[in-house]
Amino acid sequence: MLIAGNWKMNTDAQEAQALISSVVDAVGSTTIDVAVCPPFVNLGVVNQVLSKAGSVALGAQNMHAADSGAYTGEISAGMLNAIGCTYVIIGHSERRQYFGETDKSVNEKVTKALASGLVPILCVGETLEEREGGREEDVVRAQVMGGLEGISINAASELVLAYEPVWAIGTGKTASPEQAQEIHAFIRSLLSDKFGAISSDIPILYGGSMKPGNAPELLSKQDVNGGLIGGASLKADAFAGIVRAGEAAV
Ligand code: PGA
Repeated sequence: MLIAGNWKMNTDAQEAQALISSVVDAVGSTTIDVAVCPPFVNLGVVNQVLSKAGSVALGAQNMHAADSGAYTGEISAGMLNAIGCTYVIIGHSERRQYFGETDKSVNEKVTKALASGLVPILCVGETLEEREGGREEDVVRAQVMGGLEGISINAASELVLAYEPVWAIGTGKTASPEQAQEIHAFIRSLLSDKFGAISSDIPILYGGSMKPGNAPELLSKQDVNGGLIGGASLKADAFAGIVRAGEAAV
């Protein structure tokens, strides 16, 4: 069970320090995996707080697939390692939608993250138009298989997947627990075809307007192994409420 907060483009350094301090206090000690993914420039300040208090891990929201070089404005896996990251979100729908990320670039980043000892949280999910056209499974299949091309069974044990239907992100609309379970089971079957038995150990997170109120039911579903939380991760109490729901679901 992993509950990960995606702060997106929110918080300056001071706000990040205040938020992570409240998150650490509100979460307290926990038996499940918990992570926060602040903006790049605030990874250092958040890590300083986290290295003093043990139960929350650090993640980034994106990375570049190259080791170093002439890629103005980009951040490498090595830099994320050096600043204390355990996780990195790859292929979030906002990156696909606004920054031209493709399954190919996503695949390069997932490959590099795994080779660098980072745990990639590979995001997949269909748009409203695709769901209304009955194409959600085709879209998710293409994103999962494209994103994971060439990944070995050994490396797969370090993977995390996140199903985030685009129509549920930041909209207040949530997939019903049944809709989530249906796609999560579908993703599990794709992972099982590709990686075999290890697929049952790969966490599949749900993301899209998860809140303390709807988290218990979503997290109780068999193939929902955690949450990727946007809006609610910016409020320490709400985030901790989802962590409590995660603890209760295991
Ligand atoms: P949301 O975002 O919880 O605000 O819907 C989830 C995400 O984009 O990861």
